Amino acid sequence: MQKGKFIVFEGIDGSGKSTQLKLLADALEKNGVSCVTTLEPTYGMVGEVLHEILSGKKTADPKVTAALFVADRLDHLTNVENGVCRMLDAGITVLCDRYYFSSYAYQSVEVPSDWVMDANRLAADTLRPDYTFFVDVSPETAMERITQNRRTTEIYETLERLTAVREGYIKAFEKLQNVEKIKIFDGNKSISEIAEEIQNFVFKKLF
Ligand code: ADP
Ligand code: TYD
Repeated sequence: MQKGKFIVFEGIDGSGKSTQLKLLADALEKNGVSCVTTLEPTYGMVGEVLHEILSGKKTADPKVTAALFVADRLDHLTNVENGVCRMLDAGITVLCDRYYFSSYAYQSVEVPSDWVMDANRLAADTLRPDYTFFVDVSPETAMERITQNRRTTEIYETLERLTAVREGYIKAFEKLQNVEKIKIFDGNKSISEIAEEIQNFVFKKLF
C-alpha cells in the first residue's frame, strides 16, 4: 500500500493556517483522497500540560516548555491509538496544524535555536513532512485577526512576540532549505485566493 502524505501547516498565531488546513482537507476528500487533520500541541497527556502553560494557568521555564513540545510531538507520532505514523502507514494523508518548525520559531525566541533543533532531531529523523506550508502574514494583520475574532489570548500573542516568531520561521527556513520541502503562501490575500493556490500546488506536486 502507498503511504499517506504528511503535510504540515505553519504560521504565526492568527495567520489563517487552520482555516486553510480545513479547506484543503475538504478539497482532498472531494477528490477521493482519504485524509485526517490533526494539530500540535495535542490534547494527549503531554499536550494537556502545554495548553495550561500556553493559557498562563501554569508556568514553566522556557527550556521545560521546549522539552515538553518535543515529548508531545514524539507521542503524537508514535502513540498506538491514533499516532501519525500509523495513519500514514495505513495510506491515509495527514494534515497537521504545526510541527517542529513551530518549535524552531517560537521556542528559539528564548532558548538557543541549535538546542531546539537538536532536541527535535528524533522527531525529524522519524518523520519529515512531504511539504511544510507557511502561511505568511504581517504580525500586525495577525494581531488584528486574533483580537477581532477571539475571546481569549495566549501567552505568545503579542505584536512584539509574533514579530520575533515570524523572524524565527524565516531563519529556520533559510537554514534548512536543502533538507526540508517548504512552500510559502501569501496569507494577506483572501481566504479563497489562498485556498486555490494551495490546492493547485498540492494537486500538481503531491497527488
Ligand atoms: P491560525 O490557525 O493561524 O491561528 P485561523 O485560521 O484560526 O488562524 O484564523 C484566524 C482568524 O482570521 C479567523 O477568525 C479566520 O476566520 C480569519 N482569517 C483566516 N484567514 C483569513 C484571511 N485570509 N483573510 C481574513 N481573515 C482571515
Ligand atoms: P493554538 O491554540 O493551537 O493556536 P493557533 O491556532 O494559533 O495555532 O496554540 C498553539 C500555540 O502553541 C501557538 O502560540 C504556538 C505555540 N507552539 C509553540 O510555541 N511551539 C510548538 O512547538 C508548537 C507546536 C506550538
